[in-house]
Amino acid sequence: MGIIVILFSVILLIVTAIYLYFKKSYSYFEKEGVPFIKPTFPFGNFQGIGSKYHFATILRKIYDEAKGKSKVVGFFNFIEPGYFITDIELVKLITVKNFNSFVNRGMFVNEENEPLTAHLVNIEDDRWRFMRNKLSPVFTSGKLRSMYAIINGLSENLIKATEKQSKNSIEVKNLMTKFTVDVVSSTSFGMNANCLNDENKELHEISREIFGAEGASPMKLFFLFAFPELSKFLKLRQFSKRVTNFFINVISENIKYREDNNDNRSDFLNMLIQLKNKGSIDGEFSTETKKLTLNEILAQAFLFFFAGTDTSSTTASYGLTELAFHQDVQDKLRQEILAMTKDTNGEISYETLHEMTYLNQVVNETLRMHTPGFANLRKANEDFKVPGTNITIKKGYKVWIPTLAFHFEEKYWKNPSKFDPDRFTPEEIAKRPPMSYFPFGEGPRNCKYFYLISIYSE
Ligand code: HEM
Repeated sequence: MGIIVILFSVILLIVTAIYLYFKKSYSYFEKEGVPFIKPTFPFGNFQGIGSKYHFATILRKIYDEAKGKSKVVGFFNFIEPGYFITDIELVKLITVKNFNSFVNRGMFVNEENEPLTAHLVNIEDDRWRFMRNKLSPVFTSGKLRSMYAIINGLSENLIKATEKQSKNSIEVKNLMTKFTVDVVSSTSFGMNANCLNDENKELHEISREIFGAEGASPMKLFFLFAFPELSKFLKLRQFSKRVTNFFINVISENIKYREDNNDNRSDFLNMLIQLKNKGSIDGEFSTETKKLTLNEILAQAFLFFFAGTDTSSTTASYGLTELAFHQDVQDKLRQEILAMTKDTNGEISYETLHEMTYLNQVVNETLRMHTPGFANLRKANEDFKVPGTNITIKKGYKVWIPTLAFHFEEKYWKNPSKFDPDRFTPEEIAKRPPMSYFPFGEGPRNCKYFYLISIYSE
């Protein structure tokens, strides 16, 4: 009996301590005099995540509740207080004009246990500056042009795989994931994956573990993300050992093969090898010639897979789904493609692809409604007084930018739930403030890939 009473008291004490800790955290914005969205224990403002709502849906709901209140409000990612932006001019101030106060994202990095987490998206401050500088020449349209033949070749497999499926229904997400994994693994680490022909079951399984339901639970990801330092201390992992070892082995083996055989094919991996061996990329002027380490290039090669696969395959899948539901758009796009390939026997060159203006509009509208990067993050490295308010974003706190919510803001988009590529004609674009649309993020920390595919980069 005595033991039960002691156990009960200890449990009660722990629960009370946790509750008081949450309560103290939840009083943060009240004490600071910042308007905030009322949290509830224990999810803060993320009640229903995973079970009832998608992460992106919750952020849109918070935006709808917050936008009348202030251009920035407080809110809680579980227990972690964060600042939520509801004004596009403030987004510009944070991501562009005052970039030096918001260089980092505050992500989980544990280089010792998981070397693959030390990639460009996660690393911070001068280390990020150095790496971004090194990788910038990798993302030029000239470099992508030289990889176009690889992508074009793999798209033949996509056509065959599509033809094999039923004429009435095609499971596009699975198909596009396999295609994207084939493209990214070929260009980023020289692997002939051939997932479209079901040849590399292991890579397909690994991709599902990283991007699909089989992967880390949303709760764990939230924890890693809300408490990166504590997670590191507790030796938590973002990816399983299986995932980490798989990528380290595959990429290292391909690097070794290329070095031993003087294999200089034109792709991302080749450029990363040059950065490791010479500190610069052939034909690119660089004042900084410090070489990258093997671990550094392994993490960056993995990043291309991690940042490039799900974003691209989701966009392609939603784009195809919208075309299936909008026959008029599909017909118009088909006419454009047929007209531009009538003298080329169906071949589409890199240049022709960029001249397909309606295709570009369809992609942009898909990225507006189905933005894979539905929120952007920054962490304040110093206090930042928000102009026109009494609010100061405090050093060390995260700032959440709800990109998808801005893409549905009726002030900028008439009838925002309608799929309408004509919103992206040059005349319509000119009518909107530029910051009303930023699927690739904004400022010096935006998606490098953006420069290669968006009409906004012209
Ligand atoms: C439709 C496809 C894609 C979308 C919508 C997308 C979107 C984004 C977004 C929203 C960010 C954060 C930007 C910010 O915080 O301001 C980002 C960062 C990044 N993306 Fe992408 N991305 C796509 C494809 C790719 C691909 C294919 C690659 C590489 C091969 C890539 C590489 C990166 C990198 C390296 C960063 C981090 C930049 C930095 O922190 O300096 N992305 N992307």
